[in-house]
Amino acid sequence: MTFPWYGITTNWSPVGSDVNSAVDILVMVLYLLLVLGIGLWTILSRSRGTVEEFFLAGRNLAWWQIGASLFASNIGTSHFMGLAGTAATSGIAVGAFEWNAPFLLCVVGWIFSPIYIKAGVVTMPEYLRKRFGGCRIQFLLAVLYLFLYIFNSISVEICTGAIFMRMVLGLDVYLTTIALLTITGIYTITGGFAAVVYTDTLHAGIMVLGSVLLMVFAFKEVGGYQELLSNYLNTKPSIIHEGNWTAKPECYLPRLDSFHIFRDPITGDLPWPGIVFGISIISLYYWCTNQIFVQRCLAGKNMSHVKGGCVLCGYLKLLPMFSIVMPGMISRILYP
Ligand SMILES: *[C@@H]1O[C@H](CO)[C@@H](O)[C@H](O)[C@H]1NC(C)=O
Repeated sequence: MTFPWYGITTNWSPVGSDVNSAVDILVMVLYLLLVLGIGLWTILSRSRGTVEEFFLAGRNLAWWQIGASLFASNIGTSHFMGLAGTAATSGIAVGAFEWNAPFLLCVVGWIFSPIYIKAGVVTMPEYLRKRFGGCRIQFLLAVLYLFLYIFNSISVEICTGAIFMRMVLGLDVYLTTIALLTITGIYTITGGFAAVVYTDTLHAGIMVLGSVLLMVFAFKEVGGYQELLSNYLNTKPSIIHEGNWTAKPECYLPRLDSFHIFRDPITGDLPWPGIVFGISIISLYYWCTNQIFVQRCLAGKNMSHVKGGCVLCGYLKLLPMFSIVMPGMISRILYP
């Protein structure tokens, strides 16, 4: 397999590359059709005449829609690849990024959302204009957000999605990218926020179900949590790259602190002060002032539904430690 757009060329062939049975392809096609169908159904059935209807789905979302949508906009292919991959490399500490979220979700539900809702805004740049006056901050933030979303969020999600499609079906990366962007673009632009939330709810269900199934199969395969504990630290890669053959064992053996979340501030790869304070600061931006999540909170029926949505998403965010991070670690044992 080659990844020419990374400037990396390897002949590494992933474990699942022989997924090309008719049933697998049928499932994927059905899934794509289902997403498109939900998008089209929303386009045809919901009115989108006003700003509130288009951007906030008429402010009529129930708590389970808000929670599922928050979760689905946060978790994506980048999580399934990034979390699991980092877990395989360095253990459970990366799961702290997930377990930090419930606290910040409470902050957005109880402190930030009421302020935004009271201010009667639809977007974050609009809030800053109301708060500080003038148009320069609003303009700057709008441009900054566009830049950040395109180069930071969307490109990562689309890239990992395309890599996944390539691994599983052998599809061309550029073709997949264009197809994903077109499908998403069509139902987002024409269906408005309601279409996004309805497809998000489907995605959240599929991701929770899929990752929990994966977890069950992974733990069954490896023989349980005790086996994971005792085998992970001894896994050695079956091929140690030529460039590394003189390398010290630290370079290819798992870290001794793999099963610790709070790691040494000097020698840890994810030092605990960063886990406690660093992630919280990033997450404060990410969950509380980020248009993606704020918009979902603003679209709630009333404050009870907004808070309920945040709580639901907080509970769902406890899952990835078990359903994504640990299967990633198990993959290192099963496929050394
Ligand atoms: C919000 O709406 C629900 C019904 O959907 C109602 O039971 C609840 O009391 C409302 N909460 C507030 C704060 O108005």
